[in-house]
Amino acid sequence: MMTHDRADWVWITGASSGIGEALARRLLGEGRQVVITARSREKLQSIADDFPDNCHVLPVDLTDRQGLDSAREAMMAINDHLDAVVLNAGTCEYIDTRHFDAGLFEPVMNINVLGSANTLELALPMLRRSPNRAQVVGVGSMAAVLPLTRSEAYGASKAAMEYLMNSLRVDLAAERIDVTLVRPGFVKTPLTDRNDFEMPFLIDAEQASGHIARGMDKRKLTVQFPWQLVWIMHLISWLPLGWQTALLKKMVNN
Ligand SMILES: NC(=O)c1ccc[n+]([C@@H]2O[C@H](COP(=O)([O-])OP(=O)(O)OC[C@H]3O[C@@H](n4cnc5c(N)ncnc54)[C@H](OP(=O)(O)O)[C@@H]3O)[C@@H](O)[C@H]2O)c1
Repeated sequence: MMTHDRADWVWITGASSGIGEALARRLLGEGRQVVITARSREKLQSIADDFPDNCHVLPVDLTDRQGLDSAREAMMAINDHLDAVVLNAGTCEYIDTRHFDAGLFEPVMNINVLGSANTLELALPMLRRSPNRAQVVGVGSMAAVLPLTRSEAYGASKAAMEYLMNSLRVDLAAERIDVTLVRPGFVKTPLTDRNDFEMPFLIDAEQASGHIARGMDKRKLTVQFPWQLVWIMHLISWLPLGWQTALLKKMVNN
């Protein structure tokens, strides 16, 4: 039984690759019980094969509300409570404003925002049954700090994640459920392997998972990294909006 703030039963979504997989492997390596979710059962199973004693596979399409009841049953068959949930499943589409395609917003909003809400609907009752102080961790992005080129859909979804986490923190405080917002900078994963531009201060998923795990255990309100990008982006965000725009439009690639 845990007598400290370390979450021992953790549900990580988007755990089949990238940041989620690295975080799952890190927490599993520390001996925690981890439930891993994504759509691809085979990828999840190959992680579980490496940790037969403490990894639990829960393949779910988190955008499918119809599937939530069976996901809930499958989760309850694994354990009756959770100490932490990590809302990490997500995707990115870039917008070309010259050929504005509203259809590209749909997959981004579906998993990044609605998928996170679906996950919370399932997780909150289980977090309330934790014998310990429970925790919600939402993976946003440094993209929400500044209005970045081509990020109309992705940035909006991550701004929504920030608001979601910050208002949840207010509402869950009385129930002693902590809320941590994670803002990664650029991390090398299958998601960013699709990017066709230079990514400053790129780190690997292993490093990112270290930042997240340490921030989770310290119950930080916000975990953001890498520090170089955090400083530069926050300095720019403190400028008047007109100055910000003047600087940021230099990044536009026409
Ligand atoms: N990489 C970066 O530089 C960076 C920076 C800032 C924020 N982030 C955020 O970090 C999170 C993880 O990104 P990543 O870079 O690690 O990307 P990734 O490797 O592509 O991982 C995305 C994960 O989400 C899962 N997923 C996608 N749609 C899903 C759905 N409908 N239902 C369930 N799971 C779903 C994917 O698995 P399946 O396809 O098998 O379902 C995969 O496990 C995302 O929220 C992303 O926005 C990443």
